[in-house]
Amino acid sequence: MDLDKYKTINAATDQDNENFNAIRCNTVYRPQLHITPPYGLLNDPNGFCYFNGEYHLFYQWYPFGTFHGMKHWMHLTSNDLYSWNEHGSKITPVENYESHGAYSGAAFVEDGSAYLFYTGNVKNGEERDANQCVAILNKENQVTKSEHNPIIKSFPKGYTGHVRDPKIIKDGDVYYMLLGAQREADLKGSIIVYSSDNLLEWALKGELSIDIDADFNEAYMFECPDLLEVDGQDVLIFSPQGISPKQERFQNRYNVVYCIGRIDWASLTFTVTHWDELDRGFDFYAPQTMNNNPNEPTLIAWAGTDGDLPSEQYGWVNCLTAPRKLSIKENKLYQELEPINETKLNSVLVNIKTERIIKLESLSFLLDIDFSQAENIAVVIFDDFNNEFLFTVDNESKQLTLDRSNYDHNEKEYEFGSIRSCSLTEKSKNLTLFCDQSIIEIFSDQGRNVFTSLFFPSKGNQYLKITFDEPAEIKATLQYVNGI
Ligand code: FRU
Repeated sequence: MDLDKYKTINAATDQDNENFNAIRCNTVYRPQLHITPPYGLLNDPNGFCYFNGEYHLFYQWYPFGTFHGMKHWMHLTSNDLYSWNEHGSKITPVENYESHGAYSGAAFVEDGSAYLFYTGNVKNGEERDANQCVAILNKENQVTKSEHNPIIKSFPKGYTGHVRDPKIIKDGDVYYMLLGAQREADLKGSIIVYSSDNLLEWALKGELSIDIDADFNEAYMFECPDLLEVDGQDVLIFSPQGISPKQERFQNRYNVVYCIGRIDWASLTFTVTHWDELDRGFDFYAPQTMNNNPNEPTLIAWAGTDGDLPSEQYGWVNCLTAPRKLSIKENKLYQELEPINETKLNSVLVNIKTERIIKLESLSFLLDIDFSQAENIAVVIFDDFNNEFLFTVDNESKQLTLDRSNYDHNEKEYEFGSIRSCSLTEKSKNLTLFCDQSIIEIFSDQGRNVFTSLFFPSKGNQYLKITFDEPAEIKATLQYVNGI
């Protein structure tokens, strides 16, 4: 198997193609409205943009197995961010400057093209090199690597070979490239910045100073930096690795941080007015926001990071989260589920006066609950085998809790615990739970707190139980995703 680790899709044999077809046809654990790889492994979302009247999205893809091997960029397009057309690998790493994978990066749309910036990963034994590259997506959906590649050869002095994941921002006439990096001196994570006036020639400007003494400064690497404006403020997002757990935060192997504040390009300083962990669940990493967004700022992430997941036996692993709309309220970043077109949903139930148990017709559903009259509520998904996936809102002790300790999930993942909690600063009144076969996303209070979790249900019957402190009444809507 490992012989295929650095093989590209161009070298797929007839036997590989037969395996691929078999994997693609199997629907066990496959979400309906979340992006999964047809076969192999998916990780970060890449090149997310609105271009030529459509949404474009790529992801890190290794076709030949469910481990991290030669990364390609799989291309998808959509009109609504939920139904995606898959177009195959559009950045296949065949050049010397990307000999061990076309690593993550972002799109920048300008003048009728989408520029796809990415990192050419190169390994020489234990040594790692990183080349920054660009490929151009045209209106015929063709992607061509620039003849100028690599546009930034190797990594700058003072940093290790861990320099990657370009994100481009334009300020006035100047383009800036943010890169995740690791300092050589203290082996700590940082973000470095290059500038350009033509998108092809880049000069190192320096390191971005994030002006706060925060837990994330202990990280050994910052991956996937992102920067955008949300409601008139600058928001910096990145994926630091190596932060030890801090009470209820940073409980996962890897975690994601956002900072709200102001970027000053002249001094390369980001002044932080608020920062926090972006998602409070188990499986959320390497998010990316959409470039050239025609609507509200939108983010999508990899729901994953852990190995040995049950879908691997079916030849694929990991999915992306649902798209999320970003906004800022009271200096906190909110992530709301991008609305799903009503034609994709089937409404079944409203208004609950007493505890309810519902036998689920399908595990792809959207549940909205307004419990402003009740103090406490519990939502449980359970099966015939005592597996139980539990979300509770306790306004008295001011806690949201996601508990999968009674869910036969994935033993290895319990290394990072099976409960996630989040303290409430104000009364929680509603939640949206989006369950899609093997992923659950819970948006509490219009996305003030969000929990993402993979889960791998048994084949038996599945039920939903909603309990709350009666005699209060709650309003609930359960909508199944229509079979596609
Ligand atoms: C984040 C990451 C990126 C890298 C890519 C490789 O998950 O490690 O830093 O570019 O994945 O697949």
